[in-house]
Amino acid sequence: MLEKALSYAHARHEHYLARFQELLSIPSVSTDSGYREDVRRCAGWIVEELARIGFDNCRAYETPVHPVVYGEWLKAGSDAPAVLVYAHYDVQPVDPLALWDSPPFTPTIREGNLYARGAIDDKAGVYTNLAAFEALLKTAGRLPVNIKVFFEGEEESGSAGSIPFVADNHELLAADLVVISDGGNLRDQPLVITSTRGIVDFEVAVRGPQRDLHSGLFGGIVENPAHVVGRIIEALHDNEGRIRVPGYYDQLQPLTDAEREIMARQEAIFRSQLEQDAGVPFWGERLGPLVERATALPTLDVNGVWGGYQGEGGKTVIPAEAGFKASTRLAPGQDPEQIVEALRAFIMGFASETARITFTHGPVSCPAALLSEGPVIEAIHQAFEATWGKRALLYRQGGSVPIIGTFKQELGLPITSLGFGDGSNGHSPNEYIILEHFFRNIDTAIHFYCALADKMSAAELER
Ligand code: BES
Ligand code: MN
Ligand code: MN
Repeated sequence: MLEKALSYAHARHEHYLARFQELLSIPSVSTDSGYREDVRRCAGWIVEELARIGFDNCRAYETPVHPVVYGEWLKAGSDAPAVLVYAHYDVQPVDPLALWDSPPFTPTIREGNLYARGAIDDKAGVYTNLAAFEALLKTAGRLPVNIKVFFEGEEESGSAGSIPFVADNHELLAADLVVISDGGNLRDQPLVITSTRGIVDFEVAVRGPQRDLHSGLFGGIVENPAHVVGRIIEALHDNEGRIRVPGYYDQLQPLTDAEREIMARQEAIFRSQLEQDAGVPFWGERLGPLVERATALPTLDVNGVWGGYQGEGGKTVIPAEAGFKASTRLAPGQDPEQIVEALRAFIMGFASETARITFTHGPVSCPAALLSEGPVIEAIHQAFEATWGKRALLYRQGGSVPIIGTFKQELGLPITSLGFGDGSNGHSPNEYIILEHFFRNIDTAIHFYCALADKMSAAELER
């Protein structure tokens, strides 16, 4: 079954590339309501593709925000495990557009890379699975395991519609395992994610005078809201980067010695790849080792600051209003609700009669622990060994996939990750996937589902 599917896939590279490019050319930006119809069109494209390769009950389920794509192939028999495969078909906004070397929704090949928004995050997750399923179905007429596909269209905007969909559809989504196909691998090292951080974003607005005022008349006698914003931002961290909001680190689940040891071994590899991507030397060494800070400690980042005049030349005003957008990443142990309350109390402490403050926050998502050992992890190692020639590195992910916490709470299933986002510039201009990796990932997926069938039935036999 394996060999036939692999050689079929190898003969289909051109077709897969063409289809992937088609998917990449749909601008499914979920955060921007101007792209609402494109997101829907993208969902429709995937539904059609799923049906074409032989899945059943394929449809786009409406949610209050963007549709969830579902499809199933459940003919592997009741002895075979059922796997819920997750990926997201929405993408990040493209701005700043001027920094792209080719248009973000015109997939373009340069020097062995395929450039397009979504190329790694996360249309690679969507399409790699589809291609692997197609190769298996076309050659063997069946899949080695039962599959339910769940592709959401709003991961990049907090999953406000998809999260309740999971809560309302326990039966539809019932399975033995969830596979998260989001995130990726280092250029020459496959990764398997063992935890993701939670995330909460929030916005602070400071209001002062009733309108922008002449700073010659009112400067020095009216408090400037932009200065208050500066004081708040300054107070959030000490000079080494430690968060100063009281209680922030209290609930953190301490790392085990084994985890510290794995992280220490990853230090060099992360430094060489990530520092290059950052284009600036790393900072904040005194807070802890690099990998620990990047994956297992909370962070609190201002993402944007606004207020006052931004146009050409100067304008002498005291702005009526200023503010900022920020987000905080939470590590296992931290309770998002409690953290939000601590943040709110800290920031509201800056409010006064002359500077009125509002604090609002978006959906809260929990940190989550994923599988780190057992037959499923062995199947992943086996798939990467066969295609990359090496086992995966266990890795705590610094990023977030909000719906993972919901899968855990609502479905109570074991969760693992099989990411295909090799390449770089996710969320940045010139996002790309290394073409050779795109094809190799299809092989990895084929190997994984075959290995999973073996390992999971073998594991059952051991019981
Ligand atoms: N795929 C990422 C998460 C990720 C980042 C996995 C890096 C592996 C490596 C995901 O699409 C993402 O960007 N999530 C957002 C969530 C937010 C918008 C709610 C994030 O982490 O910022
Ligand atoms: Mn993603
Ligand atoms: Mn993303």
